[in-house]
Amino acid sequence: MTRDDALRSDAQDPLAPLREQFALPEGKIYLDGNSLGAQPKATPERVRRAIEQEWGTDLIESWNKAGWIDAPRRLGDRLAPLIGARSGEVLVADSTSINLYKVLHAALSLQQGQRKKVVSERSNFPTDLYIADSVVRAHGGELVLVDSPDEIPALLDEHCAVLMLTHVHYRTGRMHDMALLTRWAQQAGALTVWDLAHSAGAVPVDLLGAAADFAVGCGYKYLNGGPGAPAFVWVHPRHLGQSFQPLMGWLGHESPFAFTPNYRPAVGIQQYQCGTPVVLSLAALECGLAVFEQAQALGGMAALRRKSLALTDAFMAEVEARVPQARIVTPREHAFRGSQVSLALNAPLEDAAYAVMQALIARGVVGDYRAGDPARLDAEPHLLRFGFTPLYTRFVDVHDAVTQLADVLAREAWRAPEFQKKNKVT
Ligand SMILES: Cc1ncc(COP(=O)(O)O)c(C=O)c1O
Repeated sequence: MTRDDALRSDAQDPLAPLREQFALPEGKIYLDGNSLGAQPKATPERVRRAIEQEWGTDLIESWNKAGWIDAPRRLGDRLAPLIGARSGEVLVADSTSINLYKVLHAALSLQQGQRKKVVSERSNFPTDLYIADSVVRAHGGELVLVDSPDEIPALLDEHCAVLMLTHVHYRTGRMHDMALLTRWAQQAGALTVWDLAHSAGAVPVDLLGAAADFAVGCGYKYLNGGPGAPAFVWVHPRHLGQSFQPLMGWLGHESPFAFTPNYRPAVGIQQYQCGTPVVLSLAALECGLAVFEQAQALGGMAALRRKSLALTDAFMAEVEARVPQARIVTPREHAFRGSQVSLALNAPLEDAAYAVMQALIARGVVGDYRAGDPARLDAEPHLLRFGFTPLYTRFVDVHDAVTQLADVLAREAWRAPEFQKKNKVT
């Protein structure tokens, strides 16, 4: 792909106008929307209104007047189409970690102590594993971790309570077949918990179509809700009323303003609300979700997926053609990957990944780095991660990012001392 080819693809891209919705700094190629999404242009004004008018002027009246109290459900309704859920089924609240805690407890309680094994991947995002560990300890259960997805079917037996997976893997970008794994798990009597942190807004998701049981996900990645944006939680309606979530706070009560001493869960997903909504962050996330509503007129998630695959295909092809020092870790097959591409560096550069990413960032190409396990560098290498948010990434960005990567490696620009210092957040 020449630079002119890339510019031609951008000129023909039906989704190109969506980039206008984002405040992207001049001269920066932002390929880290899988970690922190870019800022919608509408966000500062919306948050300013929440601060100045709703809070500053209307004060406490805004709980009713501005609908603050219903924002977690209102935003859940706007998010629902992105994950194949219906209106009234999704709640936006708390963090992904906390929502995982709620749904894992609920799933284990549905198994009534008959089954106690939670199955997941050793390479799953650590918070998922830590939360699962905490929940199985409380239930006297066991967390069983596989090294490869191929080992999962053998573990779906009469002891398996829950299969807990991240749909799109945070390191490799590999995507699971949600419908197939859900079917296998359920045939064995297990329930499924899906972490959609790298899926929501990145790939089409069909929770109801897959008949999944529980799902959680992040608001600050592909949904562009801003740093620390609240997360979401979805529970299949067949489980509401049968299961209970353990963080029984007052806003999950059926009648919070009755102030009764006894807890009675609200009907539906509202029972997953624990405490007071994070109003300012919800106002920001509203703007992230609004962009997807505009995308709907241009073909919605199906069109975004087509563009995401075209961008990642182009990036992979360019890396293969121009960066012999790197190899692609993300699966090539469309059905098995999300919207990111991860690269590892070949010997003898395995340990240079962090410095290479710093050198790229200094040149305005922003991705990120995820450390591998030094004991298993063959199986888990250090990674350069590149996220391709189809809402705002251009084909010319793909072209120019690879040009910079090839140059950083060819000139060994990454060896400069300033790129060796590890930041707290990588
Ligand atoms: C798969 C996955 N789950 C969860 C999280 C984060 O959870 P929390 O928002 O609770 O920090 C991340 C963050 O990158 C993630 O990649």
